Amino acid sequence: MIEKKFGIIGKPLSHSLSPTLHNFWFNKNKIFANYSLIEVETSEIEGVIKKIRSRELQGINVTVPYKQAVIPFLDLVIGDAKKTLSVNTISLNKEGKVVGNNTDVYGLEEGFVNKLNKQNIEENKTLILGAGGVTSSVIYALSKKGIKKIFISNRTLKKAEDIKKKFPFIKIVRWENIISKAEGMNIIINATSLGLKNGNNFIQEFKITKSNLVYFDIVYNPEETIMIKKFKKEGVKTFNGLEMFIYQGQKSFSLWNKFNPEINEDLKKIIKSKLK
Ligand code: ATR
Repeated sequence: MIEKKFGIIGKPLSHSLSPTLHNFWFNKNKIFANYSLIEVETSEIEGVIKKIRSRELQGINVTVPYKQAVIPFLDLVIGDAKKTLSVNTISLNKEGKVVGNNTDVYGLEEGFVNKLNKQNIEENKTLILGAGGVTSSVIYALSKKGIKKIFISNRTLKKAEDIKKKFPFIKIVRWENIISKAEGMNIIINATSLGLKNGNNFIQEFKITKSNLVYFDIVYNPEETIMIKKFKKEGVKTFNGLEMFIYQGQKSFSLWNKFNPEINEDLKKIIKSKLK
């Protein structure tokens, strides 16, 4: 029997827990397969995608900074990837075409959006901090639920403006104004890399004025960022990105292997142990 090969492309990748996630499911379901880290430069993306075409690789995930960069090398962009122009899952279809999809939107729905209070959900005013690889998926997942009062802010204004071209209904807030803007929000989402283990943190001091504020940090390593700790202390409902990460992986796995692997406590325990 030939071992199936999967992996994730991005740079840097040393922090990625995707191998832990997928190899857990392969072992659990007795599938002869391996999922590995494939750290590549931009110039090497095309070569990796060729390995999908030649069936050397059965599937790949894509992470920062290549979720858009892979698109020119694909034959088809489908599903939520078409709406977001952000691809995180690649495979070969029955016709031999290399297909790009997006499972981050599903991850965001299952890991965060579906946990919001459903009553008047579309009235939520949301501030998204960051305009990197995942922001378009966040906007799309929210807008599917009718949440359209979306403000985004990014240190580099140009990247926020580029996202607005895809989603004209969003409003841009200047980075120096995020504190005052945050005061009127019901939902604040950190989609920057601020807060990541061994990285930089927000220098801004957010004030809480709404008692029903919800804070979602896409960062999950550490499980509790400084921002989560601070908001939690003040009674704000907080979420980290761990469930989003697990659910996006579950959908990628099911696209490749045609069944939904189980998310259980053993899996969560293993992932959490790797965060320490
Ligand atoms: P990419 O921007 O390459 O897609 P990413 O990890 O998806 O990478 O996104 C990083 C996000 O964190 C960006 O929004 C980035 O802001 P810039 O576009 O201005 O770079 C944000 N970010 C990273 N470090 C930051 C810092 N020290 N202050 C503010 N924002 C920061």
